[in-house]
Amino acid sequence: RDPSALSPLTVILANPRGFCAGVERAIETVERTLKQMGPPVYVRHEIVHNQRVVTELERKGAVFVDEVDEIPPGSVVIFSAHGVSHAVVAQARERALYVIDATCPLVSKVHKSATRFAEKGYEIVLIGHAGHAEVEGTLGRVPGPVHLVECEEDVQHLNVRDPQRVAYVTQTTLSMSDTRAIIKALRRRFPSITGPDTDDICYATQNRQNAIQTLAGEVDLILVVGANNSSNSNRLRELGERSGKPTYLIAEADQLQPQWLRGVKRVGITAGASAPEVLIREVLTELGRHRRLSVTELPGPVETVKFALPEGIAGKT
Ligand code: F3S
Repeated sequence: RDPSALSPLTVILANPRGFCAGVERAIETVERTLKQMGPPVYVRHEIVHNQRVVTELERKGAVFVDEVDEIPPGSVVIFSAHGVSHAVVAQARERALYVIDATCPLVSKVHKSATRFAEKGYEIVLIGHAGHAEVEGTLGRVPGPVHLVECEEDVQHLNVRDPQRVAYVTQTTLSMSDTRAIIKALRRRFPSITGPDTDDICYATQNRQNAIQTLAGEVDLILVVGANNSSNSNRLRELGERSGKPTYLIAEADQLQPQWLRGVKRVGITAGASAPEVLIREVLTELGRHRRLSVTELPGPVETVKFALPEGIAGKT
C-alpha cells in the first residue's frame, strides 16, 4: 500500500492555463453558426485539437470532416483555428460552400507576413512541425517555395536560391527556447535573413510556457491536460520534463495513474490552449478519490486578448 495514500496532496494550478482567445473564438464560431443556420454545420479538421470540445460540438450538430470533398455542395463549412491552404479555399469555392473561417487571427498574421516577404522576392523558411494542421495551412498560403525547418540540424541542409534574400516565419505554438536556437542557427547561416522581431509564437503559448516553468519550481509532479495531437500541450509536457520533474500529458482524468502520486506532496496542473477548464475540474475530482486535496493557484498575468468573430456570422461582436 502507498504510505502517502492518506496524506494531504497540495495541488497548484498554473496561471494562465487552458483556453486562449483563438480557441474561444473558434468554438463560439461553431456554436453561433449552429444556432443561426441550424445543423448540419460542417467543420474541416478538429476545430481545436481537443476531443472533448469536438464531441460536445458534434452533439450540437457539427459534422467534422478531414477534407472539403466530403461535404455536400452548398453546405456551410467552418475552417478550424489552425488555418487552411489556398487549395482548400479553392476546393470550398468549387463546391459552392458557404465558408466561415475560424482561423486564429494570430495564424492569419503569419500567413500575411510570409506572403508579404514572398512578394518582395524573399524565399521563405517556415519553422514548424511537419504534418501539423497549422504548418500545412501556412505552407499552402505562401506563393513560391517554402522551406520547412523543424530543428537546428535542418538549417544546415537548407538549399536556397539567394542567401541574401531569405526570410523566416514560425508556427505559433512552438517551444520558445527551441525556436530561439533555430533562429540563431538561421542567422549564422544567413546573416542578412529577415523575419518578425523575434518569432511568431503567440502570447498564449508564451504565457503558458512561462507559467509551467514557474510551476515546475513549486511541485514534485506535473500534469499537463491536453490532447496528444495538440502542439502547445506537447511543448508544455517537454518543458515540464526538461525542468527535471516527472510530467505527464493526459487528455482525460481517467488517464491519471495512481502510482504517479506515490510519495508526491505537491502536484502542479496546467492545460494546453485547446483544453477546456472542465477537464481540469475532472482531474481534481479524480485526484480527490486518492488523496485529500488542498488546491491553490499561482499568480500570473491576466490575459485580456479577445478576437472579433469571423466574417459571415450574423450579429458578430
Ligand atoms: Fe491562436 Fe495562439 Fe490560441 S495562435 S489559437 S491564440 S494558441
